[in-house]
Amino acid sequence: MGQPVRFPPMPESEAPSDTLPEQSDLMEKVVGLCKRRGFIFQSAEIYGGFRSTYDYGPLGVNLLRNVKNAWWETMVQRRADVVGLDAAILSPPAVWAASGHLATFTDPLVDCMNCHQRWREDKIDGVCPACGSTEFTEARAFNLMFKTHAGPLEDEGAVAYLRPETAQGMFINFLNVLQTTRMKPPFGIAQVGKSFRNEITPQNFVFRTREFEQMEMEYFVPPAEAEQWFAYWLEERFRWYLGLGIPEDQLRLRHHEQSELSHYSSGTADVEFLFPWGWDELEGIANRSDFDLKAHAAASGEKLEYYDQTANERYVPHVIEPAAGATRTMMAFLLAAYTEDEVGGEARTLLRLHPRLAPYQVGVLPLSKKETLEPLARRVLGLLQPHFMCDYDTTQSIGKRYRRQDEVGTPWCVTVDFDSLEDDAATVRDRDTTEQIRVPVDGLLAELRGRMDAASAPA
Ligand code: GAP
Repeated sequence: MGQPVRFPPMPESEAPSDTLPEQSDLMEKVVGLCKRRGFIFQSAEIYGGFRSTYDYGPLGVNLLRNVKNAWWETMVQRRADVVGLDAAILSPPAVWAASGHLATFTDPLVDCMNCHQRWREDKIDGVCPACGSTEFTEARAFNLMFKTHAGPLEDEGAVAYLRPETAQGMFINFLNVLQTTRMKPPFGIAQVGKSFRNEITPQNFVFRTREFEQMEMEYFVPPAEAEQWFAYWLEERFRWYLGLGIPEDQLRLRHHEQSELSHYSSGTADVEFLFPWGWDELEGIANRSDFDLKAHAAASGEKLEYYDQTANERYVPHVIEPAAGATRTMMAFLLAAYTEDEVGGEARTLLRLHPRLAPYQVGVLPLSKKETLEPLARRVLGLLQPHFMCDYDTTQSIGKRYRRQDEVGTPWCVTVDFDSLEDDAATVRDRDTTEQIRVPVDGLLAELRGRMDAASAPA
């Protein structure tokens, strides 16, 4: 491959200067961008919208998929001690009775005595957000699970639940995985998928919704090693967000007070992100002890244990669980990436998304719509598409197309111009610096791969 050749920049470059948007506007700006550019739409919008459900558009589906792939790569692909699973979303009441969710997966529900709106008591500080009243009914326990019926009869025997967490799929398949793989503690089972919670007050865009996606891993360990693995996973998970571009000052770990712990947890810490409304949870890392395996063993009659041949002993492993939200994390990446700056005296909006997360890694842009450029531009597209998600854009001026790609976070644009027909080279432009270099067409793949590797290298 030839070396990239430096080339006079196309007319736009001036080092960009940053101005951070005010936190108060940030949410509005990001929500607006998500709608305008096809990241996230209100679900059933043509029917007036369905509260708290969202559809992921052409760009959002790429970003969300990249978030999940990045998690899977770190948590499964790059580890010899973790295997994957994709369990059913529908499950019988027995699972949720044993897990404790039927009895305790509740939030305290209160009605405002004045306007009769319903709220989650622990989220409103004693004042009705709708009318300001401080008079409420007694709190009652509201179970967050979605109940449905499987089959044509809507009787008690047909009751099924949509899972409120992916975790139980891993516990009820513990023996299956143990018997079909060569895993032995410490080892993990990981899963990415939809979960459903009938949240009393869904809020803040996709932060808290009734239908969402989780990325969870249950790490089964010898009981004596639980504390050490809990500390290990806290650090690993914190680092994952940093590595994908969340700034250190917008991320923190917070250990739960005893009174906050879930019914299954003997210790939990959250990875928190600084959202526009303050610090809030991205991921919970819990020491679930042997609660779940013991509960399912007691309810099902199956022995959910590990037999350690070397020590000739049986034990019920303890579980460390890093549990993240994919949709919530995607929103944090968008908020952290949103930037406004100036290029050549003109305001610009950009998403400084990590190249691995960006909906498109490359924009292929023929300088003009003239047919003479199309064959080469299509050749470049064909060369890059097997390796990168590419957008091919021919409409409007090159400056406007750069801005469009910046706004959706495309890290690199490749522009084919009339000189390209002579020198078989194209201009590669960087989203963050707007710097442009000329690269031979045959060297484009290596150039962009090099940039991707550099962005992904540990700091
Ligand atoms: N298995 C443990 C568990 O589910 P959790 O803290 O309830 O723990 C884990 O959920 C993660 O799932 C949260 O940190 C959050 O990112 C995401 N999550 C939970 N409820 C959510 C909701 N209603 N909307 C969006 N994401 C949610």
